[in-house]
Amino acid sequence: MSYNVAIDGPAGAGKSTIAKAVAKKKNLIYVDTGAMYRAMAVFMIREGISVDDVDAICSKCQEADITLGYENGEQVVYLAGENVNAYLRTEEVGNMASAISPHPPVRAKLVELQKALAAKNDCIMDGRDIGTCVLPNAQVKIYLTASSEVRAKRRYDELTAKGESCDLEKIKADIEERDYRDMHREHSPLKQAEDAILVDTSQMTIDEVIEHIICICDSARKLEKICKSMENAE
Ligand code: DC
Repeated sequence: MSYNVAIDGPAGAGKSTIAKAVAKKKNLIYVDTGAMYRAMAVFMIREGISVDDVDAICSKCQEADITLGYENGEQVVYLAGENVNAYLRTEEVGNMASAISPHPPVRAKLVELQKALAAKNDCIMDGRDIGTCVLPNAQVKIYLTASSEVRAKRRYDELTAKGESCDLEKIKADIEERDYRDMHREHSPLKQAEDAILVDTSQMTIDEVIEHIICICDSARKLEKICKSMENAE
């Protein structure tokens, strides 16, 4: 049986940075499920489908040939065999991903792929519905969050460091709007799984969060071993 760590949380909580670092230290594959929704968005844009055309989104998604691979330790998303990583992080693709992700046929298709990956590989997977829906039996579940003020400031610092001009209040408003959409959608809304451990990173450095999550993973492993040896002793 494979070993799975699920990390869910709102946009900008640092899920991918943390998951990548934990993956490296614990020798796990990192699966970024947001990138899969973004690849589906690239497919829809290329097909000329509008964000409002729900029927077309729900039927066309079946034709999208999305696969994952790894090059130099980095996740690569392929659309019909083409590496589309370079197109995933634009505003247009982000908006399309947000618009298509609530629709059940889109989710069903990508969740199936995610489950298959996790069944075959020891992995750490991040997203919005991993602990609640994709991997309900994951050995470790983390709900990673931070206040919207802190998440907005992190994003603001990231953009200003790149020389882009931006407005902190506008970033915070966008983050809160996305949180609301993710948490209130009908299907697979973002929420903490009952058995997930809440990690609020508002007052923590990246290194502290990584160390804390590794500690949680190690404790869960030890507990699993103790339970198994007790079962065997019975
Ligand atoms: O984490 P991200 O910004 O790359 O995610 C892109 C979009 O996909 C975002 O609108 C939320 C959605 N998403 C989702 O619905 N379920 C997931 N497991 C991952 C992402």
